Amino acid sequence: MRPIDIIEKKRDGNELTAEEIEFFIQGYTQGDIPDYQAAAWLMAVYLRGMSEREIRDLTLAIARSGTMLDLSDVAPIVVDKHSSGGVGDKVTLVAAPVVAACGVPVGKMTGRGLGFTGGTVDKLESIPGFRTDLSPQEFKSQLARIGIVITGQSASLAPADRKLYALRDVTGTVSSLPLIASSILGKKLAGGANAILLDVKVGSGTFMKTVDDATCLAETMVRLGRELGRRVSALISDMNQPLGWAVGNALEVQEAINVLHEDGPSDLREHCLVVAAEMLVLAGRVADSAEGVEMAAQTIADGSAWHKFRALVAAQGGDVRFVDEPDRLPRAPIVEVLPAPADGYLQKIDAAQVGMAVVDLGGGREKKEDPIDHSVGVIVHYKVGDWVQSGTPLYTLHANDRTRLEQARARLVAACTIGPEPVSPPPLFYKKIGA
Ligand code: URA
Repeated sequence: MRPIDIIEKKRDGNELTAEEIEFFIQGYTQGDIPDYQAAAWLMAVYLRGMSEREIRDLTLAIARSGTMLDLSDVAPIVVDKHSSGGVGDKVTLVAAPVVAACGVPVGKMTGRGLGFTGGTVDKLESIPGFRTDLSPQEFKSQLARIGIVITGQSASLAPADRKLYALRDVTGTVSSLPLIASSILGKKLAGGANAILLDVKVGSGTFMKTVDDATCLAETMVRLGRELGRRVSALISDMNQPLGWAVGNALEVQEAINVLHEDGPSDLREHCLVVAAEMLVLAGRVADSAEGVEMAAQTIADGSAWHKFRALVAAQGGDVRFVDEPDRLPRAPIVEVLPAPADGYLQKIDAAQVGMAVVDLGGGREKKEDPIDHSVGVIVHYKVGDWVQSGTPLYTLHANDRTRLEQARARLVAACTIGPEPVSPPPLFYKKIGA
């Protein structure tokens, strides 16, 4: 088999066999197939799509590119969650410790930022010392010890996804249903959890722009995940505006800590409680979502979710002083408030543009090797539907560089629309798939 034949076959719109997919993914993971051929293949998949059978084979090839964890000797049920990507989405940092504090082990494989969306690995790495490259043995022993693990793809866990994910990020091949579905499910299979809650986003700040497209992605993943022997359900949630107020790595960690201390934005808290509740339902810990929300809220109120988060940070080498006193987290030297230009209702705030403003500031990647600046970001002070008073803070920018700040500022000004007509806030969730 030759990589060029597989690229051309997909370029011409033909279905690849399981052997061809396996050969390509193994070859790329092992370094026998170079980035330029993998990029061409990704673009061919992006443009031509894949059948459900191909998506399944690609998922399995990604999962098998490293160790596939068997967690059955750790706990009968281990739960995981995954977001399809959003702006200001720090839900894992709250929902995972909440669920673990309810007594359900959480073993999570996560990723870095993709395009204008943030990634949990990048956020957690703003805590000095925090390791996101755990070995399979470390994953299992930490899960057995404290009931919670959040790690990234590594040389031994879903290494194919680690490489493909970074390449997609810089080759315009992120927003493809087969590539998203296989990337997410491949990681989830490798991570070993038997119950998986998918938070599939829809809107300007994510890769699926319509509820129909998000539903199609969610249904595909739920179907495949179940076929592959996992309990899976999905929520379709809104991502037309950033979730919470903070966008940017360290700022988001701080906001998640606030929610764990019963503070922070109400949309974020509610979103985290619903996600946690659905994880508890999947794990069989509660009978329904309402009971789950109640149990989840209790772990925040009694401090047990916070203690789980702190234990997670300590177990993965993070310096807990930085979460005990979040003011110590990386801080950008330039903090500038952008005031609202007029009175009116906030009618729209384009989440993708807010995400791109954070990339402009250095909080995301333009090239694969780009380092991330954890300290930069944006605070958005209003939500869609709010009355905005002229001259009050609309955004606060955290920057390390004046030129970058100007670029982000121009983008942010264009990202929001303020007008005289009231608008209803969008819902947090549209529907649930696979109840
Ligand atoms: N999250 C992933 O893990 N992969 C994607 O492709 C998109 C979101």
